[in-house]
Order: sequence, then C-alpha cells, then structure tokens
Amino acid sequence: MLPIVDKPVIQYAVEEAIASGIEDVIIITGRGKHAIEDHFDHSVELESLLEDRGQQGLLSLVRQVADLCRFTYTRQKRALGLGHAVLCARDLVGDEFFAVFLADDLIVARDPAIKQLIDVHRRTGASVVAVLRVPPEKTSSYGVVKVGSSDGRIHEVVDMVEKPRPEKAPSNLAVIGRYVLSPRIFPLLEETAPGAKGEIQLTDALRVLAQQEKVLAVEFEGTRYDTGDKLGFVQATIDLTLAREDLGPGLREWLKRRCGELG
Ligand code: G1P
Repeated sequence: MLPIVDKPVIQYAVEEAIASGIEDVIIITGRGKHAIEDHFDHSVELESLLEDRGQQGLLSLVRQVADLCRFTYTRQKRALGLGHAVLCARDLVGDEFFAVFLADDLIVARDPAIKQLIDVHRRTGASVVAVLRVPPEKTSSYGVVKVGSSDGRIHEVVDMVEKPRPEKAPSNLAVIGRYVLSPRIFPLLEETAPGAKGEIQLTDALRVLAQQEKVLAVEFEGTRYDTGDKLGFVQATIDLTLAREDLGPGLREWLKRRCGELG
C-alpha cells in the first residue's frame, strides 16, 4: 500500500489490468492487509467530508477507485510462497486462462505489459511469462528461463530455474511479475513440493507445465521498477513524478539544482 507519487503501488497493477481489458480482479491478501480492501471500496466518511467541503475533484477521484472493476479477495492464511498464493485463487478463477500480477513489479509501458502477454496468448493459445534481460550477477533474484526456439522477442520456454546462481543460470532472461497462465497450472501447483526458500514456487509448477503445454516468454516493451527494493522504489517515485504535468517541472528544477550541488 506504499504510494508512488499519490497512488498505492497495487493500484498501478489494477489500472494496468483494466487498461488491458480485464474486468475481474482477485486480490490475494493476508493477515493485517485490510487496508487494501478499504482502499478499493467506497469510503462513506471520506466521501461525505469531501462533499461537505465542496472538493468535487478529490471526491470523484475517490469514487473512481471504488468503481474501477469487480474485486474479489481471498486470504493466503500462511506465507507458503508465490505458487501457494496463486493456488488460493483456484476456485475463483475456475477453468480458464488467467493473468497474474506481482504488484511490486511496476511496469510503465505504452502498451500495458499484461496486454502484450495477452496478445501473444491470443495468437498462440500458450501460457506466457514476462521476461527481461538482466546482468548475469542478478539471476539469483529471479526465476530464469531456458529457451528453445525464438521469434524476435518471443521465446519458447523449455525449462525454468528459480533464483539460480549466475554459474547455474540457463540464460539471462529473468521472469518479471506478469504471467498469463493455463488453468492446468493448478493441479501442478497442488503437487509441487516446497523448493527455493522452503516455499511452493510458481516457477517449479511452470517448468512442469512447459513439458506438457506450450509456455512462451515475452521480452515486453516498457520500463520495470522493482518497488519492493528501496532503490527501485525511489527510482519509480522520481520517474513517475517527472512524467506528471503538475509535478514534473518542479521536480526537474529541484533535481537540476541538487545535482549541481552534488557535482
Ligand atoms: C518472484 C518469483 C520469481 C520472479 C520474481 C519477479 O520472486 O518467484 O520467479 O522472477 O518474483 O519479481 P520474489 O521477487 O517474490 O522473490
């Protein structure tokens, strides 16, 4: 729920979903995360306060958030990993392809990142994961794909490894938090034993899926910020503020002065 400029990180993912044609959003929450549900709901007290004060601009902003799309929440009762979190949504998703967002990965792109994946899925019928090329020393922070044939920025996934050390990494193509997945991932997740960090890893189920069905990796176009990382969070804040008409010019001036002072 930490804000980048003036919106919580998770809202960027929700807006990306909506801009890509997604109408139903399932949020996997956990203990102590009530603030998320409250954020995407009407706030009677706040709305009536803004109404009384005649702050129409803010009022419509607050109302828009609640009307973004249909939200469903499900709780992950124990922190057993990303694969387990996805499995928590099984009954809500049902038997159709679905998209997964790891909201910490904020992606700014002309064409929303998940839409780029959905387009590839529509053309091919495959499950699709987003990837980025990372410096070799960074592979241990990501799921890394082993590719077969490639067509430009689209690669066939033949295997995947979760957080390999550089010398064990099958490539420098790292999975970023956007996926379009076949519902056949659910039974595979159910059979997946805890892997890296003792957690049920989505990567481990995906590598089995890749042996059974087509899984593609797409080098998406756009800029990704790891907002779960302190430096990434600050970089996202600066870039997104610079891009704002109301705030960008002021920040640009201040940064220039500050950089001059720093030399
Ligand atoms: C998760 C996934 C990993 C992926 C990464 C992307 O790791 O397990 O495969 O590359 O997200 O951000 P986490 O960052 O939760 O450790």
